Amino acid sequence: MKFFVDTADIAEIQELASTGLLDGVTTNPSLIAKSGRQFLDVIAEICDIVDGPVSAEVAALDYETMLAEGKKLSKIADNVAVKVPLTWDGLKTCKALSDEGIMVNVTLCFSANQAMLAANAGATFISPFIGRLDDMNLEGMDLIHDIRQIYDNDPDVETAILAASIRTANHVKDSALAGADVATVPPAILKSLVQHPLTDKGIEAFMADWAKTGQKIL
Ligand code: E4P
Repeated sequence: MKFFVDTADIAEIQELASTGLLDGVTTNPSLIAKSGRQFLDVIAEICDIVDGPVSAEVAALDYETMLAEGKKLSKIADNVAVKVPLTWDGLKTCKALSDEGIMVNVTLCFSANQAMLAANAGATFISPFIGRLDDMNLEGMDLIHDIRQIYDNDPDVETAILAASIRTANHVKDSALAGADVATVPPAILKSLVQHPLTDKGIEAFMADWAKTGQKIL
């Protein structure tokens, strides 16, 4: 499973990209508002830092304006994935943009039927929102399982499942087990994935024993 980071915070993106383990970035209007920066500038800056797909979301709700916004966003850089909401106008925009070879991330997916429509519209990514379903006492992860099975039943589907609205480290692991192709993860959760108390304890013991040898590697 690939890892995207779900943020518009440039410092966080730079830090994670420097590991060489960051495959892409997703943003949304709320994350852009939180950054306090100009949308087009932030997306351009992120695209300079990360080689993988960078999702930039349209703001309009009607097809004509979404299409125009999507085309403008796609011109920022080759790795922009235009993000459109899962509505009929969004799907129509997805079809038009994907027919032109532009990557599209269809967002705000909460049902398997929506995911089927997005695949038929040529979406590069479908974004099922796990955490927001969990918030409603539903089992968000079931949606990832269902979409995986449905997509695997149709050899023509090329859409990648991008697990979104991830709130915990277990969401990341469970998304991978459910067959998600990508997880977009908030920076704090992404950084926490490396942590384990037994790793820390093991390093402490090895370092203490190494010091006793009096040796150096360099
Ligand atoms: C996905 O692309 C969205 O930006 C994001 O995952 C939404 O997460 P939230 O439900 O925590 O806002």
